[in-house]
Amino acid sequence: MHFEKEVGESLTYKFAQAAGEMKAQGKEIISLGLGEPDFKTPDYVVEATMKAMQDGFTHYSATQGWPELRKLIAEDCNKAYNADYTMNDVIVTPGIKAAVYFSLAAILEPGDEIILISPYYVSYPAMVKLAEPTAKIVNVTLSRDFTLDKEKLEAAFNKNTKAILINTPNNPTGMVLSREETELVVKLAKENDAYIISDEVYEKLVYDGFKHTSFGLYQEIKDRLIICNGYSKSHAMTGWRLGYAIGAHDVIVKMNKLQQHINTNTCTFIQVGACSIYKNEPVHIRPYVKELEDRIEYFDTELNKLPYIQAVRPKAGFFYFVDISKVGVDSNTFCADLLKKTGIASTPGIAFGPEWDDHVRFSIAVPMATLERAVNLLKNYRFGE
Ligand SMILES: Cc1ncc(COP(=O)(O)O)c(C=O)c1O
Repeated sequence: MHFEKEVGESLTYKFAQAAGEMKAQGKEIISLGLGEPDFKTPDYVVEATMKAMQDGFTHYSATQGWPELRKLIAEDCNKAYNADYTMNDVIVTPGIKAAVYFSLAAILEPGDEIILISPYYVSYPAMVKLAEPTAKIVNVTLSRDFTLDKEKLEAAFNKNTKAILINTPNNPTGMVLSREETELVVKLAKENDAYIISDEVYEKLVYDGFKHTSFGLYQEIKDRLIICNGYSKSHAMTGWRLGYAIGAHDVIVKMNKLQQHINTNTCTFIQVGACSIYKNEPVHIRPYVKELEDRIEYFDTELNKLPYIQAVRPKAGFFYFVDISKVGVDSNTFCADLLKKTGIASTPGIAFGPEWDDHVRFSIAVPMATLERAVNLLKNYRFGE
């Protein structure tokens, strides 16, 4: 593998880091770069985890994951999907990213093709190349309104397609695959005997009455399905590094072998504490979603008043992926200029696919007052002036 070519610096961190340096020099920074929830992890998770640590759950766990947690995850998914997974079909991983990477490493073989939907989550291409350097990535580019073009998707599948890696609800666009789009992916995967690796990390953060359709509902492709999920976004647990994959048993077995050789297990007391997630009502979610909806309402109205931005209102998640083509510069140049002049950190669209160099991603996972401050600065900002 050509490491330098395939595994560049994550552009989401590049501008966050530059912003951090400016902050250290005393400049005011408005951080709309990373998708880190500004909410607190629920107290019951913190308390259960501290108790687990005090009770001595500080040694290795089963490499596949703490059995009680895997059982609870399987039960929760069975209820949601009307499925019959067991704890043996679940692996607990240090974050959702690790679940996606281990899935890719378990599934891909030399020369396989894998479909990504562009714009994609920033780490997907590097993960594919790290998992299987000879894999061929086939991008299906969304339309400018972020809908999935049926013909483009159909054209991407062929007999060499081993998998499609898909993220719904989506980062960076905030789109949610419709039921019809989901069913089309299922149909094409089935016809081509391809795996679906579905990253559903934003499933609980859907706004304005839109509905998320999980691939888990399509148990007819159970043998070719891996769902990756976790608590980073829904329970504001990004720093805990906790996620899981549930799905095709033979793939989970291979993922466990990878975990045995790479990280042994996910932090034991965190897994034990995380069982509390399934024993408490997720009462924080509704106010959390309402707060994000209010921010979207505000930001959407204000962004669309700016002469140099066109924004498609997100249906889910933490991000606005806005069109800056009217400015007439590439996304890295725009983000650098915006940071220098206003202190607003954002993420260049090119990070999410080569076709998106005229877009920029803003995070709304910041308090409303920060968004208001950003809007005031954006109103007075003009590129190059
Ligand atoms: C689509 C997607 N998948 C995975 C992750 C990472 O999740 P984790 O922090 O649990 O590894 C993110 C975080 O931004 C994401 O947006």
